[in-house]
Amino acid sequence: MKKITVIGTGYVGLVSGTCFAESGNQVICCDNDERKINNLLQGGVPIYEPGLKELIEKNVKKGTLCFTSNIKQAIREAEVIYIAVGTPMSPSGEADLSFVEQVAKTIGENVNSYKVIVTKSTVPVGTGRLIESIIKQHLREDYPFDIVSNPEFLREGAAIKETLNMERAVIGTESDMAYQIISELHQPFTSTILRVSLETAEIIKYAANAFLATKISFINDIANICERVGADVTKVSEGIGLDSRIGNKFLQAGIGFGGSCFPKDTAALVHISQKCGYDFKLIKAVMETNEGQRVKIVEKLKDALGTLNGKTISVLGLAFKPDTNDIRSSPALDIIPYLSVNGATVRAFDPIAVEETKKQLGYQCLYFKDIYETLENADACLILTDWLQVKHLDLNKVKELMRQPLIVDGRNIFDLETMQEFGFTYLSIGRQP
Ligand code: UGA
Repeated sequence: MKKITVIGTGYVGLVSGTCFAESGNQVICCDNDERKINNLLQGGVPIYEPGLKELIEKNVKKGTLCFTSNIKQAIREAEVIYIAVGTPMSPSGEADLSFVEQVAKTIGENVNSYKVIVTKSTVPVGTGRLIESIIKQHLREDYPFDIVSNPEFLREGAAIKETLNMERAVIGTESDMAYQIISELHQPFTSTILRVSLETAEIIKYAANAFLATKISFINDIANICERVGADVTKVSEGIGLDSRIGNKFLQAGIGFGGSCFPKDTAALVHISQKCGYDFKLIKAVMETNEGQRVKIVEKLKDALGTLNGKTISVLGLAFKPDTNDIRSSPALDIIPYLSVNGATVRAFDPIAVEETKKQLGYQCLYFKDIYETLENADACLILTDWLQVKHLDLNKVKELMRQPLIVDGRNIFDLETMQEFGFTYLSIGRQP
């Protein structure tokens, strides 16, 4: 049993802290946002993540998990301190490290015994060393401490499951003692632990996300070719995915990647490369293809309708992917304002991301939690998120509700024959109309 403090109660911090408590440690999750902490203290959970609320309640009840805004005290009480604060994208694309730097200073000022300080946030190479030097500058006495990079690989929507059963843990540190402590913490979660240097661990995180993003843009480029040559990208994915060297995951063509990670981390990797004098052309092309996918789907819709002006368009899905209410870098945030500015009335559906979207888009569209109500009198239906509710649509009912049976599907949910049988004009990605 270790005493762990997790600083930052965002996605990564909250999930990691809760899972460490679940595996038998004493965990304090802290944040300088008092409103967030008060909400957690009252049983609220700021994010939607399957299984998280239940696990928090269970561990709070057991006394293994608690929340506080007193970061200084939480630092003093811990043996292991996880830094899980945000590293937002600055306007240049570079990761903004101001939160990390502030936390490092507070840690330095409050170290009172040996501590292992671990970065969980996705941080550029060299940040571990930067944290080390900030802590050293602010130490009140010469207490020993070690720095570790232990990147996070969880996916939103599957975060709890993937943390409790992770495929691998990466632990970057020069210290044998710190490695011992952090690897013990991960033993309940995985038997595959890779020990590397601090810098290597930091790069592994960016390389993993950039590689996955590359797979997505690659298959989207192939999809764009498929449309021109009369091929079917879903079959191409299947055909290449059967090769175990390629693998069948992350080869789903669509409107490109969104979310809080891939867009931010690919941009940050371009910066990291530039800083060390390397032109990472491949990742720049990955980002370009990704942006293009959002434009292409709107063009398809526009071409099919003749004009957007005066049309009613039902947008299905606001979250960047299913099982989350996260709308960060979601295609809907670009596409809805474009449709609206071009004179369309947008009726938008999402089972859980409506409130989040309202905060960002306001009344640029009408919001619905009932999928069928969204489709009433629509000239076109535009699918942006592959929610189960969309996959299970009663297509007869959809046809009756819509003014004309036009579906533009950014997620390739339905098969072409079915849509033809139902009499839809069905436009998808990388397949024939
Ligand atoms: C991603 C990584 O998958 C995690 O391993 C990583 O830990 C996380 O970023 C992070 O850095 O924190 P996440 O952003 O939650 O996780 O979501 P993914 O499931 O990876 O999906 C990302 C985007 O790619 C979504 O917009 C999704 O729709 C899109 N995608 C995914 C595709 O367009 N095609 C695919 O085949 C797969």
